[in-house]
Amino acid sequence: MHEILLDAPLDMHLHLRDGAMLEFVAPLSARDFAGAVIMPNLVPPVDTLERLHRYRAAVATATAGHRFAPYHTLFFRAYNEAELLAARPFIIGVKLYPEGVTTNSAAGVSDIAAAAETFGLLERLGIPLLVHGESHGFVLDREAEFLAVYDWLARSFPHLMIVMEHITTAAAVDLLDRHTNLFATITLHHLIITLDDLAGGLLNPHLFCKPIAKRPADRDALLAAALNGHPKVMFGSDSAPHPRDKKEAAGCAAGVFSAPVAVPLLVDLFAQHNALDRLPAFLSQNAQRIYGIQPPIKQLRIRAESWQVPLQYGEVVPFMAGRTIDWRVVTP
Ligand code: NCD
Ligand code: ZN
Repeated sequence: MHEILLDAPLDMHLHLRDGAMLEFVAPLSARDFAGAVIMPNLVPPVDTLERLHRYRAAVATATAGHRFAPYHTLFFRAYNEAELLAARPFIIGVKLYPEGVTTNSAAGVSDIAAAAETFGLLERLGIPLLVHGESHGFVLDREAEFLAVYDWLARSFPHLMIVMEHITTAAAVDLLDRHTNLFATITLHHLIITLDDLAGGLLNPHLFCKPIAKRPADRDALLAAALNGHPKVMFGSDSAPHPRDKKEAAGCAAGVFSAPVAVPLLVDLFAQHNALDRLPAFLSQNAQRIYGIQPPIKQLRIRAESWQVPLQYGEVVPFMAGRTIDWRVVTP
């Protein structure tokens, strides 16, 4: 029977939510991953030390019994040095959302240039800046328009580690090579789908997310970077669960729930492209090197065996619901 082993898969961009949703979805990630970067866009956002500690405790409870390291983040605001020093031992970075660009980002930043003092602090304290890089322009151009901001950030704060989260364009891949302090995460769904899958035929709300899936040439550039194990690119699922009634609705919420299928689908994708030898770089090693983290020792066994993705996990419809995947995570 054909099997492969994966050491310490890491999901460098994950939404776990809170309350009952957290308790339901967290074990699905903790089963397949050795660690994940936990996004802070709760309501209210995780932007105080007290909320951070409360969320850390809730995530620890929800993932108890798993070898799983939650790497927490703070929601960007104008922190002072004392606040950042107090939080630093407990976070992997600070996540910046432009105001209103995506789910639960109402408390985001309206004027990025005006936040320069905080960027300087993060740079001096060695705290990475994770960024949702979209402007408020035409939806297909939002990431492209934001690249000038990344360029400004990378040049103005040369010692600040900047992660372009969930990049979706060939132009963002190109920008990686122009600044040593710029890195990126790429989701699973942006390696597979284009705007056509979302809206080219009958509308599929379960593929609606921010940033929106783009053109085939963009998807191909992302795929090439991942399959080549581009040293500045890390896997980040951006798995973002919303209950089915919030997705199959007028005013559909943005977010694709991919946590339970991410590892087997990545294996499938890399196997199809004869690139399984590059998967460890994309799925673990690059992130360990870039962030300087040592996740728990965890080896995942994946078998060439078909299974059908459930139509729902609880209230949430997963990415590729009902489809057959040819690789399965063998639970120990
Ligand atoms: C995310 C969410 O639902 O929290 N949604 C999304 O479409 N990706 C937020 C985000 O990462 O933009
Ligand atoms: Zn996200």
